[in-house]
Amino acid sequence: MNQPAVVEDTNKNAVEIEVPAYVRHRRLIEWVQQVAALTKPDRIEWCDGSQEEYDRLCQQMVEAGTMKKLNSAKRPNSFLACSDPSDVARVEDRTFICSQRREDAGPTNNWIDPQEMRTTLDGLFDGCMRGRTMYVVPFSMGPLGSPIAHIGVELSDSPYVVTNMRIMTRMGRAVYDVLGADGEFVPCVHSVGAPLADGRKDVPWPCNDTKYIVHFPEKREIWSFGSGYGGNALLGKKCFALRIASTMGRDEGWLAEHMLILGVTSPQGRKYHVAAAFPSACGKTNFAMLIPPSDMNGWKVTTIGDDIAWIKPGRDGRLYAINPEAGYFGVAPGTSEKTNFNAMATLKENVIFTNVALTDDGDVWWEGMTDTPPAHLIDWQGRDWTPAIAKETGAKAAHPNARFTAPASQCPSIDADWENPAGVPIDAFIFGGRRSNTVPLVTEARDWKQGVYMAATMGSETTAAAAGQQGVVRRDPFAMLPFCGYNMADYFGHWLKMGERLEATNAKAPKFFCVNWFRKGDDGKFVWPGFGENMRVLNWMIGRIEGTAKGEEHAFGISPRYEDIDWGALGFSRERFEQVISVNDAAWRDELALHDELFAKLKHGLPEALPEAKAGMEKRLAA
Ligand code: OXD
Ligand code: MN
Repeated sequence: MNQPAVVEDTNKNAVEIEVPAYVRHRRLIEWVQQVAALTKPDRIEWCDGSQEEYDRLCQQMVEAGTMKKLNSAKRPNSFLACSDPSDVARVEDRTFICSQRREDAGPTNNWIDPQEMRTTLDGLFDGCMRGRTMYVVPFSMGPLGSPIAHIGVELSDSPYVVTNMRIMTRMGRAVYDVLGADGEFVPCVHSVGAPLADGRKDVPWPCNDTKYIVHFPEKREIWSFGSGYGGNALLGKKCFALRIASTMGRDEGWLAEHMLILGVTSPQGRKYHVAAAFPSACGKTNFAMLIPPSDMNGWKVTTIGDDIAWIKPGRDGRLYAINPEAGYFGVAPGTSEKTNFNAMATLKENVIFTNVALTDDGDVWWEGMTDTPPAHLIDWQGRDWTPAIAKETGAKAAHPNARFTAPASQCPSIDADWENPAGVPIDAFIFGGRRSNTVPLVTEARDWKQGVYMAATMGSETTAAAAGQQGVVRRDPFAMLPFCGYNMADYFGHWLKMGERLEATNAKAPKFFCVNWFRKGDDGKFVWPGFGENMRVLNWMIGRIEGTAKGEEHAFGISPRYEDIDWGALGFSRERFEQVISVNDAAWRDELALHDELFAKLKHGLPEALPEAKAGMEKRLAA
């Protein structure tokens, strides 16, 4: 039975709303009232996360032209949504960290004074949901009720957001049982910023040219305006699980990281867990679902997460990780049965595709899915597409940042422990960027400090996951540049402290490795085959963890020699290996100069340990 919420005199902005009896959290109800009073939706819908609700919203979006239902015989219970061409990626230049003090946001984040931002948001959100429904979306990041999980509630006027959140998080009524009458939650407000005042007709993908993705770290609050796409709108993901959670981790002694988590089981049955950070669209989903090459089929790789890890010290002092998400929001182009068989199997049903192409028989296609493209397609912008048109105009059938939203439970390689509330113990951290040169295939850091240095100075060539120029090297410390909710220099300090704590408790500390799958030869082609063959690199790392594998010291760390890798059936020559592993001293001198630029930018609060680590490398280079 529904209950009318009480309107209090002190609550000047509140409106009376119907609240389901199972929602008992007074502060939450008052907040919903306040946001409704500001945004003025026509209706409020409290989402329960049921299949019926999901089906109804999908049907509603089909009727509105937002989504198409795919051929049920080919892709059961799946849909294709195509966004407005102006709303296709995360907007980093419109993303703000509004901490009380500018220095707490640091030089790598956009900062605006919180009071000023509140005034701006009050103006933007005033009446922004007119003519629309405001959905109340309760969600848990992490298994419901797990001590590592945290709860959020997103208010959104986008049914696309609701359906995606149902796949990406544990969303629905059960969250209120965990929340009770006074539990903690992160309030997230989202609007596409396209009110339907005075009977204005809706468009398939409403959005606004003005965009604001705003975080208030001290209040642990998120406000997002103007975009309906991905990380801008599914606020549990980048906004909560990384930007807000990283500040929670700093305050509470844990880590919220842009990392996949995988399990590796050796032929002897010993299991290891690694967490790996790569910038967006650098193959995290592929690595998380890796299938070892056939000559290494005694090894088993299992998937715990593909994008985000929350890592907390366990009772034994070791670091334990959970995947706070329940689904994959992966990049579609380039994904095929050859590059990622497990992802393709995950995508068989119950998927929302965004900005891929539609085949004539009602299925989906994207560049790289098959060697030969279909003879005719409708591209992501609704235009006819043929291989001949593509050749002539260069038009892509799918947008380069086209995505799939799929339930993690459907992944054939899902790890038995992926929902273990206690998490899995981490044996190694891997950091990797997209670098055509300079950075070797794999390098082990000598110790925690050098590992932090490696991760802090990581560079990568930019991709389509964020709006802006592509292919230029930018420093992306820990792959967290767009996702760290506080001062990056303090973040380095926090990582160093986590290492000191492991040392103080004598707990087994993960090793650090830096990888680069992307070195190119003189012909401009990738030298390393990547994908399943990355298992050979993982094998070497496990050997290093066990103390059985050898390596060679160089200025940057320790890398394998040709004979230290099990090449099995690959047939990778010594010469080619040299092309991916070599450390060119001159190139490294230039690289170190670029690290200086990063350190100069982050000089306020930069931990001494980092320039010290750099001095050590310079000494080794000079020797
Ligand atoms: C993502 C990203 O969507 O990193 O995962 O951009
Ligand atoms: Mn990501």
